[in-house]
Amino acid sequence: MDAKKTIFSGIQPSGDLTLGSYMGAIKNWVELSNDYNTYFCIVDMHAITVRQDPASLRKRAISQLAQYIACGLDPADNTIFIQSHVPEHAQLSWVLNCYTMFGELSRMTQFKDKSAKNADNINAGLFTYPALMAADILLYQTDLVPVGEDQKQHVELTRDIAHRFNTIYGDVFKMPEPYIPKVGARIMSLTTPENKMSKSDKDPGGCIYIMDKPEDIMRSFKRAVTDSDTVVKFDPVNKKGVSNLMTIYSTATGKTLEETENEFVGKGYGDFKIAVGEAVVELLRPIREKADDLMKNKDYLVSVYREGAERASKDAYRTLRKVYKKVGFVER
Ligand code: TRP
Repeated sequence: MDAKKTIFSGIQPSGDLTLGSYMGAIKNWVELSNDYNTYFCIVDMHAITVRQDPASLRKRAISQLAQYIACGLDPADNTIFIQSHVPEHAQLSWVLNCYTMFGELSRMTQFKDKSAKNADNINAGLFTYPALMAADILLYQTDLVPVGEDQKQHVELTRDIAHRFNTIYGDVFKMPEPYIPKVGARIMSLTTPENKMSKSDKDPGGCIYIMDKPEDIMRSFKRAVTDSDTVVKFDPVNKKGVSNLMTIYSTATGKTLEETENEFVGKGYGDFKIAVGEAVVELLRPIREKADDLMKNKDYLVSVYREGAERASKDAYRTLRKVYKKVGFVER
């Protein structure tokens, strides 16, 4: 028996991966991959709840796979796959839709936010998105779900759905728990540091992408918002911009926040911002180069996603089969 606990997480290929996705998610995934049985998914089915350009979606899914690997996720140790390749996700999500209440879905803050932003396309998929996410998680008998604070509500709902199902049919699903990384990994926009760094940010300077070129990274850091003070000091309430830059610097270099404060005593924000930019350039350089190399080797990427889908599907089917039996479907 596999004594390792299981982890599932995913990112939508609805935009390019950001420094925030690296520092807040993927970097932690790499650290977890030794001690857990891990599934890391490219959730393209979630992405189409908002209208996507087909060619860009396809390209971003492949490039996201290359970036996962370049960030250090070894396909030999992690099941890495594309959601739409594993039909069990759609199949279980239909069943779970029938065990998820209208009222529950209506209370999801992400649904409210996204409907406000996409008022001309409030489709049923956007509404039932959490049932698909529940299917992602529950198919693999997941113990822990590494997510940002904004996704915690969806994991809580997943638990409610699992509990409801288990109460009727017996122990079918393992109860998953959200796994929120330690504070410090939440990276904010460089231009509006009260908001999370986001690939959907309208302001291009606020967001750094993993694949950005050094000169673009430096430009964005030089323009990063600070404050009218001059001291490099960690104070996320009163000095949001500076504190965010410190978090980025400390995550990129491995130095503590205290070491960072000491390093910049008596230096101005100008020097500090350049140092942060340079640290990020050096952090991302090998990742970008590796991802560029991988993108030249499409055959390899195809073999990775095919093998990932095969492994995932085998595990997912075990759960789906049980569910189909429990609800009363005739075995084929
Ligand atoms: N909803 C998540 C997000 O937008 C992505 C996601 C889809 C996910 N399925 C998941 C995350 C399962 C964790 C587990 O960030």
